[in-house]
Amino acid sequence: MLRAPLLAAARSKGIRRLVEAVPATRSVVRRFVAGSETADAVRVARELATGGWRITLDHLGEDTTDAAQAAATVAAYEAVLSALASEGLADGADVSVKLSAVGQFLPSNGEDVALENARKICAAADAVGATVTLDMEDHTTTDSTLGILRELRGEYPWVGAVLQAYLRRTEQDCRELSGPGSRVRLCKGAYAEPESAAFQDKADVDKSYVRCLRVLMAGSGYPMVASHDPRMIEIAAALADEHGRTDDDHEFQMLYGIRPEEQARIAASGSRMRVYVPYGDEWYGYFMRRLAERPANLGFFLRGLATR
Ligand code: FDA
Repeated sequence: MLRAPLLAAARSKGIRRLVEAVPATRSVVRRFVAGSETADAVRVARELATGGWRITLDHLGEDTTDAAQAAATVAAYEAVLSALASEGLADGADVSVKLSAVGQFLPSNGEDVALENARKICAAADAVGATVTLDMEDHTTTDSTLGILRELRGEYPWVGAVLQAYLRRTEQDCRELSGPGSRVRLCKGAYAEPESAAFQDKADVDKSYVRCLRVLMAGSGYPMVASHDPRMIEIAAALADEHGRTDDDHEFQMLYGIRPEEQARIAASGSRMRVYVPYGDEWYGYFMRRLAERPANLGFFLRGLATR
C-alpha cells in the first residue's frame, strides 16, 4: 500500500528537501549506503573482500540534466577504480553505472554523451581488471540502455546489464542476452511502472523471475541472480545444478545492508556472492526505493528518527 507513494516521493524534489533536512536521517541511511567518499567505498570493499564477498560499487546519482555533473560522475568512477587498484582490490571487482547519471537525459545528444561517458568508465575498469554493469532505470529507458550496452560490448564484451523481471518484455530480452559472454543481472525491478509495461502482482513478478532464470541458466552467458528472496535463490541454485553450472559461471548478488546473514551463508557455501555497495551524497532516490520495497524499513527509519 505504501509502495506507490514512497516511489512517487523518490522523485519529488520537495519531499527530498524535507527528508534531507532531518539531521538524523544520515545515520539511518548508513545502513544501506557505505558513506560519502571514495575512501568509504574502498573501506567497505576491503571489509567484504576479507569475508570472501565480491563487490559492485555504485557512485550514487541519477537523472542528471547537467553535462558537468555527468563528467564529475565519470571522474568519481575513475577515482574509485584507481583507488581499488592501489589497494589490490580491483581484480574481479565491478562498478554499477546508471546511464541517467552520466548524461542519458541531457537535452541535446543525451544518449551519445552517456555512451561516451560509459565508454570512459569501461576503459578505466578494463585497465585494472574490473567490469562494468549498467543499472536499469524505469521502462522508458530500457531500449536506450540496451542499445548503449550493444555499442559498449562491441569494444568491451564483458559489459553487463540489469534486466527487470517485472517488465513484460524481459523474458524476450533474456533470450536475446543469454548468448556467449553476456552478463545479465536479473532483479525484480524497483520503479513505479504502468500495467501496460509491467506485471503489478507480486506473484506474477515472481513467476516472470523464474521464467527469466530458466532462460538465463539454460543459456551460455553468465547469470547474476540479484535477489534477497529465499525462494528465488533456491530455484536459481536448483536450475544452476540442472544445467551443470559450476560456482564459477553464475553468481548471487544482494544489496549492502540487506540480509547480511544470508550473504554470509551463500559466500560460505562456496557460491560467488557479490554485494552492491552504493556510496556518495546522492542517496535520496536509492534510499526511498529501499523503503518502498519493505514497510519494515520505513518503521526502522521512523524509529531511528524518533530515538535521536
Ligand atoms: P522481494 O522484494 O520480493 O523481497 C524478498 C525478501 O527479501 C523480503 O521478504 C525481505 O526478506 C528481503 N528484502 C527485500 N528487499 C528488502 C529491503 N529493501 N530491506 C530489507 N529486506 C528486504 N532494481 C532496478 O529496478 N534496477 C536495477 O538496476 C537494480 N539493481 C539491483 C542490483 C542488485 C545487486 C540487487 C540485489 C537489486 C537491484 N535492484 C534493481 C532492486 C530490485 O529490483 C528489487 O527491488 C530488490 O532487490 C527487492 O527485490 P527482491 O528480489 O529482493 O525480492
